[in-house]
Amino acid sequence: MRSSVTLSIQWAVLLSFFVVLFCLLQPATSVKEHDFKKCDQSGFCKRNRAFADNAAAHTSTWSSPYHIIPESANFKNGQWQAIITKTIDNGERARFPVTISLLKSGVTRVSIDEEKRQRKDINLRHGSKARKERYNEAENWVIVGGMELDIKAQVVFQDKSKANIKYGGDEKLEAVIRFSPFEIEFKRDGESHITFNDRGLFNMEHWRPKVEKEQAEGEKGQVEENTKADNGEDESTWWDESFGGNTDSKPRGPESVGLDISFVGYEQVFGIPEHTGPISLRQTRGGDGNHNEPYRLYNTDVFEYVLDSPMTLYGAIPLMQAHRKDSSVGVFWLNAAETWIDIVKEKDGKNSPSLGKDTHSTRTHWFSEAGILDIFVFMGPTPRDITKKYGELTGYTAMPQQFSVGYHQCRWNYISDDDVKDVDRRMDKYKIPYDVIWLDIEYTDEKKYFTWDPHSFADPVSMGEQLDAHGRKLVVIIDPHIKKVDDYPVSSEMLSQDLAVHNKDDEIYEGWCWPGSSNWVDCFNPKANEWWKTLFKYDFFKGTRENTFLWNDMNEPSVFNGPETTMPKDNLHHGNWEHRDVHNLNGLTFHNASWEAMVSRKKGERRRPFILTRSFYAGSQRLGAMWTGDNQASWDHLAASIPMVLNQGISGFPFAGADVGGFFGNPDKDLMARWYQAGVFYPFMRAHAHIDSRRREPYMLGEPYTEILTKALRLRYSLLPSWYTAFFHANRDGSPVVRPMLWTHPSEETGFAIDDQLFLGTTGLLAKPIVEKDKFSTDIWIPDDEVYYDYASYKLMKTQKGKKVTVDAPIDSVPLIMRGGHIFPRRDIPRRSSAAMRFDDYTLVVTISKDGFAEGDLYADDGDTFEHEMGQYIHRKFHLTDNTLKSIDAEGRNVKSIKAGSWLKAMREVYVDRIIVVGAPATLNQKEVSIESEGRTWTVKVDYHAAEKDRAAFAVLGRVGARINEDWGIKLA
Ligand code: NOJ
Repeated sequence: MRSSVTLSIQWAVLLSFFVVLFCLLQPATSVKEHDFKKCDQSGFCKRNRAFADNAAAHTSTWSSPYHIIPESANFKNGQWQAIITKTIDNGERARFPVTISLLKSGVTRVSIDEEKRQRKDINLRHGSKARKERYNEAENWVIVGGMELDIKAQVVFQDKSKANIKYGGDEKLEAVIRFSPFEIEFKRDGESHITFNDRGLFNMEHWRPKVEKEQAEGEKGQVEENTKADNGEDESTWWDESFGGNTDSKPRGPESVGLDISFVGYEQVFGIPEHTGPISLRQTRGGDGNHNEPYRLYNTDVFEYVLDSPMTLYGAIPLMQAHRKDSSVGVFWLNAAETWIDIVKEKDGKNSPSLGKDTHSTRTHWFSEAGILDIFVFMGPTPRDITKKYGELTGYTAMPQQFSVGYHQCRWNYISDDDVKDVDRRMDKYKIPYDVIWLDIEYTDEKKYFTWDPHSFADPVSMGEQLDAHGRKLVVIIDPHIKKVDDYPVSSEMLSQDLAVHNKDDEIYEGWCWPGSSNWVDCFNPKANEWWKTLFKYDFFKGTRENTFLWNDMNEPSVFNGPETTMPKDNLHHGNWEHRDVHNLNGLTFHNASWEAMVSRKKGERRRPFILTRSFYAGSQRLGAMWTGDNQASWDHLAASIPMVLNQGISGFPFAGADVGGFFGNPDKDLMARWYQAGVFYPFMRAHAHIDSRRREPYMLGEPYTEILTKALRLRYSLLPSWYTAFFHANRDGSPVVRPMLWTHPSEETGFAIDDQLFLGTTGLLAKPIVEKDKFSTDIWIPDDEVYYDYASYKLMKTQKGKKVTVDAPIDSVPLIMRGGHIFPRRDIPRRSSAAMRFDDYTLVVTISKDGFAEGDLYADDGDTFEHEMGQYIHRKFHLTDNTLKSIDAEGRNVKSIKAGSWLKAMREVYVDRIIVVGAPATLNQKEVSIESEGRTWTVKVDYHAAEKDRAAFAVLGRVGARINEDWGIKLA
């Protein structure tokens, strides 16, 4: 018989679950900052900050306690290795092997481990089964290339105090390693750009046994634990830590790693998503306009998040870049444990003589709770170099499914299969283009994933068929928590095969999420991934079809009754790694398992998966898209979305968007209009809404708003060829899909902090969505002295480099201007979905530069399979010089020699239909021009419009009739 105590505990748990659930279902009123740790509530954060404060308070006497043993140093094949030591309490020395790898790409990797733990020469407390080593497997999940060593790197000088290594070939890079104390300085062209440990904050908390102490009497006579270690250090957070009623048993004691990294002569730093706030990161040690807390990276379901905050969010990419005029450098901190980053800026030119005394440097201080220290250093010199080399290491954005670049219609929840069909029909009735409709958790039978609610989704097949008939897709949500009930095969299989995450006592971990009591699939376990694949087979997940795709949510993981709404850190994953070690990778591993499952749904079916994830880490860009989680239907959240999306782009994960319309609350119609116009410029464009919000599909708004939203969507759809081309560039070299000024114009320092306007790929389209109520014009900052035209009217803008130009923005339009010198593709026939546009002809828009020049490209493939990896794609380069507009294969391939598969064959009948030349030269003022293509010549009609008032001259050429994948040339004069 169960005791009443057990029962009351169960009731308490149940009650707290309903309280949490109740809160989650409430519209947002306030943020829940107090549910998440501040630095001084996180032991290692507090300790590392105290370490820094102590160093700062004793600058004249402070010296880092870490020293390299000169005799231990050796260099071979591009790798320099040595032992760093630190004298610890009993006079013993803790030893930390360091490896500095000079990579062929010019990137340097610095890894530091702890010898005692490498040797497993430690004891764990509480009988824990956790691994004894420091976690060193993050690279297995994150790094996919770029690791070739630079065997030409040379130690050009070494004595007992330092070693100088030259590397990077023509890039003239040098690493100066100082031995006592241990420091590294990274130089380019003889000048210092990045330093490690020059403030002496390097800190590896070595393993130590817990010495049990007598309890002491506190000030007020109560018995207290003595929290002073023998050497006087405060050990109150070494052995266990409690927060919000949860206690972390910390079987390995303190084990954090920290380092100060200075960007010498750089006043601004960027990156380290996911946070809200400006892309140019704020200082974090207080003061006017600064944060008081370090930026935190600890993937968490921050259910009502704060704006302009260093607080953690759902995902983490520990890549930071520093930019100054004509120079960019960066670091990637490869550590999956909870991480905090302090940023301060100081006027200090001491290390940068050429920049002068007034130079500001940004001094950062990074610390992670566990794991090895593992850092990649990028020496630029351009932002493009950083995104490219970072992508070489962590992988580039996957080529997306074509449909996923279209518009996604989502809400929590479409309530039945009939509801879905109805929305689909109405979108058609109102001629609103969309590609995908989404199902949130309510489609399942009592939150059991891989099932359908038998009443409301009784016929998923006919729902899928209707969507298919309209060229549309269905996305269903699958979360990592698996409902713990007896009659659910997914649960029983997972448990019987031992594929779930374990708790600290090595039993199956149980927590609460949407389904109530749940267990979590452990995707660090290869066997779990193999099993996960079986669940997506069409004959297992019945009702799914080839047009069903995926949404992975709650994968931080979100655990309603867990510490900070996630898993206890002392939980155990496959290989007995503690959750603490791998936390920030958790979302990526789940996303990865789903990716593998989706590519193997059916034998012989090789289609690109589309999977949206909420939680992510460096490398997640290879697997799909992300969104910024549970925002609010408010103007400030709309405004916040743009820097967030831009930051994702420069941080290697550009397939990003925010919930259009805002998740919580009910947006008014103007906000909806502006949000759709902004959403058109998110790489991932999905409308989503909370279960309590009113229905707000575009046709629900009524006129003129339905028309306004439709117009915005049409803009997106006509530009899909350009969007897809921008994704192609992201896929090839890591270029952001939407680009902030600092990335496109790295010589214009005033543009670096501008994060409310963006360029779309290489199109030269410069957009600045309106994000304020009752605002009907805006000022766009102009980064160069090129000419700019208004997108809709072809008005020649009165621009001046470095100045702002005012653009009108009535409620039905988004401020969008075109930079001269570009050629971008569109498809102009309005259709219901991107599938319906697949073989439509193209329009090319040519915006003539001030020098009479223009260029651009088009990439297209079947948008669905992996055939493009076998050369089944079209990549054209268009350029206009000397009054001749030409199209050639962008990669110099002999297109005729490529054996065409079905898509490429069908594309033979796809043409360039119209060419719109904006800023057209007067020589084009003629009735027709002649076009030559592959030995044939014909004429094309010209409709010329001379310049009028402030509108530029333009000409419309058509019907052009040139095959898209053939070479052609038109003389425009
Ligand atoms: C949390 C997600 O952020 C949200 O988008 C979703 O609607 C709910 N989970 C329910 O699945």
